[in-house]
Amino acid sequence: MNAKAYEKMMVGERAADFIEDGMIVGLGTGTTIAYMVQRLGKKIQEENLHITTVSTSSRTTKLAQSLNIPVFDLNEVKQVDLTIDGVDEFDKNFTGIKGGGGALLYEKVVAKASKRNIWIADSSKFVSKLGTFPLPIEILPFGHQHTMRQIEEIGLAPELRMIDETLFITDSGHYIVDCLTGPIEDAKSLSFRLNQIPGVVENGLFIGMTDEVLLAENNGVKILKK
Ligand code: A5P
Repeated sequence: MNAKAYEKMMVGERAADFIEDGMIVGLGTGTTIAYMVQRLGKKIQEENLHITTVSTSSRTTKLAQSLNIPVFDLNEVKQVDLTIDGVDEFDKNFTGIKGGGGALLYEKVVAKASKRNIWIADSSKFVSKLGTFPLPIEILPFGHQHTMRQIEEIGLAPELRMIDETLFITDSGHYIVDCLTGPIEDAKSLSFRLNQIPGVVENGLFIGMTDEVLLAENNGVKILKK
């Protein structure tokens, strides 16, 4: 296991400690979250816990169900107690870029429905300025070339996400464009401008959505709070 994967495992497993009996838990998506879900599966068995979960992607649902973790539809729960999710980049204000795994839309919906949100991150994710990781934007397939031109007009360079020469389709049937942004000076205004474009479903900027991050650092896990 390389150093980055080891860090993901450390924060992922540590995050499962934050889940208590009886909680309704939002499960994020990504390689870091996979470690958390695996640990949660063991914890539920070992401690005989009653945990309800909602998931942010078909990938996470599949993994959770394979570990006998009960997964419910978001509409079946009134609110989510705690959501744990990964992040692609975040800064000292806990503004983040998410969507590297293509699940940004459901991740945002679940984060908003959640009383508490914790991000888990390997050390490469903490940056002084956002904008190195290409910003994922979820767009409608209908008229997507026009939508992409409108994204270009606000100064970004959108690239349709492909997986092995096939268009990537999100769980909700949309496309993702990844955009090189350069340093992001004003995330709020960028997010607002993007979401004003009719074909844009949602963008990967997560602003004011978490107050806590578990960050892998120096062979340990640091808890960062706002
Ligand atoms: C999924 O769409 C993303 O938001 C992930 O949470 C993010 O890409 C982090 O992924 P890794 O844990 O795989 O680095």
